[in-house]
Amino acid sequence: MAVLVTGGAGFIGSHTVVELLNEGKEVVIIDNFSNSKPEVLNAIKKITGKDFKFYEIDYLDREKLEKVFEENKIESVLNFAGFKAVGESVQKPIEYYTNNISGALVLLDTMKKYNVKTFVFSSSATVYGDPDTIPITEDCKTGGTTNPYGTSKLFIEQILKDIYTSDPTWNICILRYFNPVGAHESGLIGEEPQGIPNNLMPYVARVAAGTLKELSVFGNDYNTPDGTGVRDYIHVVDLAKGHIKALQKLEKEQKGLYIYNLGTGNGYSVLDMVKAFEKATGKEVKYKIVPRRPGDIATCYADPKKASEELGWKAQLGIDEMCKDSWNYINHK
Ligand code: UFG
Repeated sequence: MAVLVTGGAGFIGSHTVVELLNEGKEVVIIDNFSNSKPEVLNAIKKITGKDFKFYEIDYLDREKLEKVFEENKIESVLNFAGFKAVGESVQKPIEYYTNNISGALVLLDTMKKYNVKTFVFSSSATVYGDPDTIPITEDCKTGGTTNPYGTSKLFIEQILKDIYTSDPTWNICILRYFNPVGAHESGLIGEEPQGIPNNLMPYVARVAAGTLKELSVFGNDYNTPDGTGVRDYIHVVDLAKGHIKALQKLEKEQKGLYIYNLGTGNGYSVLDMVKAFEKATGKEVKYKIVPRRPGDIATCYADPKKASEELGWKAQLGIDEMCKDSWNYINHK
């Protein structure tokens, strides 16, 4: 019996595949390399010393997807496939809704056809919009997303709830990620944004490496300790391990719909992260303060208690490791 991982060559997918293989799971990956590279597959093999099956397909391609289900005994699906750039989603809403929502629907419909009902979905803290209370618990209200990327996550969550209502033999876990950063400690896999990065940490790493001149800090007039935005940065390896715990929970329960925040519960500001990166790497990160970025909120961090109580999962790695491992990955290439 195998775990099917869509988007398994991507940033979070590849780290999760490593953990799945380390757990002795049989893994089948599908990826169309739209935002990842084939080399990642060899890196996963090198890290784990284990093999897996791979199909270069788009998860919207129903015929090819069905073949994967025909040729393998799939018992559960982890869905990492999807577009994820917030800014780009505003420019390309049709592409984002088609890829993220239609892709999820094709996948879920194919699962239904082959009677595979165990599903772990990569959602995002962005579904909380501008949260009323901090730290954010899973029962905080959702909605008020400000871009098609975030809205696609919100809609898919609703689709999953509706599927579960229609057939309670489904076994679904929605994981709401906070801000994933870092890389595998081997330096062999990590985050590979195309072009100029939108997210803070890949940008910071490139400033330290000298490939970008300076960081623009988007606003220092927020209601936060130093005025810059506060987020819950989580090491991607901790995040990957959260998926193993989620899968174990589903294997134990056999049916249900579960929602968990995957965050550390700690909020760090933009300037905290700049300082931590400088400390971990010994490199200077030049920055300038610029106006706020539209759509950003002041503060966002998780209450990770539910995942700790129900999954037995807690983030172990702090910002020093996040910075060190990002840097190690950049220098490895
Ligand atoms: N920031 C800068 N300069 C930059 C980039 C970011 O100052 O060049 C700041 C932002 O204003 C924010 C913080 O750094 O305060 C983090 O920004 P990111 O773009 O790294 O991350 P976001 O919190 O905006 O978004 C992330 C993910 C989304 C997800 C969201 C959920 O990228 O996919 O978290 O909260 F939806």
